[in-house]
Amino acid sequence: MELRETYNYTVVRQFALMTVVWGVVGMLVGVLIAAQLIWPELNVTPWLSYGRLRPLHTNAVIFAFGGSALFTTSYYVVQRTCHARLFAPALASFTFWGWQAVIVLAAITLPLGISTAKEYAELEWPIDILITLVWVSYAVVFFGTVAKRKTPHIYVANWFFGAFILTVAVLHLVNSAAVPVTFWKSYSVYAGVQDAMVQWWYGHNAVGFFLTAGFLGMMYYFIPKQAERPIYSYRLSVVHFWALIFTYMWAGPHHLHYTALPDWAQSLGMIFSLILLAPSWGGMINGIMTLSGAWHKLRDDPILKFLVVSLSFYGMSTFEGPMMAIKTVNALSHYTDWTVGHVHSGALGWVGLVSMGSLYYLIPRLYGRATMHSVQLINVHFWVATIGIVLYIAAMWIAGVMQGLMWRAVNDDGTLTYSFAESVKATYPYYVIRLMGGLLYFSGMLIMAWNVWKTVAGQRPFEASIPAVRVAHA
Ligand code: HEM
Ligand code: HEM
Repeated sequence: MELRETYNYTVVRQFALMTVVWGVVGMLVGVLIAAQLIWPELNVTPWLSYGRLRPLHTNAVIFAFGGSALFTTSYYVVQRTCHARLFAPALASFTFWGWQAVIVLAAITLPLGISTAKEYAELEWPIDILITLVWVSYAVVFFGTVAKRKTPHIYVANWFFGAFILTVAVLHLVNSAAVPVTFWKSYSVYAGVQDAMVQWWYGHNAVGFFLTAGFLGMMYYFIPKQAERPIYSYRLSVVHFWALIFTYMWAGPHHLHYTALPDWAQSLGMIFSLILLAPSWGGMINGIMTLSGAWHKLRDDPILKFLVVSLSFYGMSTFEGPMMAIKTVNALSHYTDWTVGHVHSGALGWVGLVSMGSLYYLIPRLYGRATMHSVQLINVHFWVATIGIVLYIAAMWIAGVMQGLMWRAVNDDGTLTYSFAESVKATYPYYVIRLMGGLLYFSGMLIMAWNVWKTVAGQRPFEASIPAVRVAHA
């Protein structure tokens, strides 16, 4: 008699393990580029130079680590909440191998200097075509599963995953439109300020949908599960969903303040960014209030700590973002490390912690274990990561405001008080603190990798913990 799982967990397991692997790789590259900003002599060859490793870092952490976390959780959640096995399992398997191929191609081409030079869309056109194929397959698998659901309604986490999948498809197709000149070189079909506007419409919605909507899907499933409480307000989740996806679309121009973009478009971006505070905080409040009556669990449940603290960072970065979108604030923050601090409070604090918390929930269940190998180590990881984030973002805030003030300081006779090099020199100590924070966050990821390895390989299966998972199959 062969055992067949109720749900298709094979592809979920594959993506879960690769999330951990790419987390380690992407953060290692982050630590390396943080070190290169302190010691330029670490730029040993062109392939390992800062200019080529930086896009490798962003692609690895956003698309390889974050992307794999999103595939893992969306495939798990859609099956559990729809009471249906994944639609088109062969296609689901293709999304795994196809996505890994995209990542490996990125890891080869970016260090070789092959790049479109569009931020977060650097990969050249042949890889873009592969991404499109994987993404369309992903949509077919996800929406196919929703369509064959046995539950009467579609749970809210799936709306967020669904919006993320659809929007990323549109963003990718529009922003990557290019004219190929050779196999590894293409030019954008847009030019000048239109190109910039399309790029940041893409860039900001990559934040809104890749780095936010999908992760909100995780929040809506894993927080109620781990807290063993229903979501605080279903009505708020509906309002939150529609308000968030409507507003995000218009906020892109805040990346182009004081550029050749028409002033009215910049103002539009600023206003929509300010409005965006409301749906963002609506979502955060919905997640945090789900803990009503379960706050005591935070004392000794490290997984819940990951999930809830991730929401605090989400709240922080979605307060900071609208402030930075105000033109006069942006006049100070733009081009400075303040932006880098903002990015990482969202990336390390929100995206990183919510993914890690969700994976700690999932891994034992996917492998039929009672718990993770060491619950104590989850706690250690939580503290190491949180201290790392605080060091990273505090250093960048101080450095950023300092740089902005130094660049605009003028003497009585109208000349600049500081040269640019002086501001770089003044930033060094903060780069060292950022590196320390990054090293801590990276060590947390290594602890997680070890714990996951021991859970998957080191224990005997504990079948009784997942009674509903396996059914007899003749
Ligand atoms: C060990 C952890 C990490 C370290 C040490 C690190 C370090 C860095 C460094 C040094 C930069 C370049 C900053 C500059 O241009 O001056 C950078 C950029 C960036 N990183 Fe990370 N990073 C880490 C983790 C992450 C994670 C987990 C994510 C996303 C989920 C992420 C997303 C980004 C993004 C989007 C940028 C581009 C920022 C911008 O253009 O303003 N990083 N990172
Ligand atoms: C209400 C929500 C948010 C708003 C209004 C917002 C606004 C902004 C603004 C004004 C900038 C600076 C643009 C510049 O001066 O160049 C920025 C940069 C950025 N933000 Fe946010 N932000 C929000 C949330 C987030 C979150 C949650 C994340 C990450 C998960 C994030 C990731 C980024 C990234 C990656 C950049 C850097 C883009 C680049 O220049 O490469 N943002 N954001």
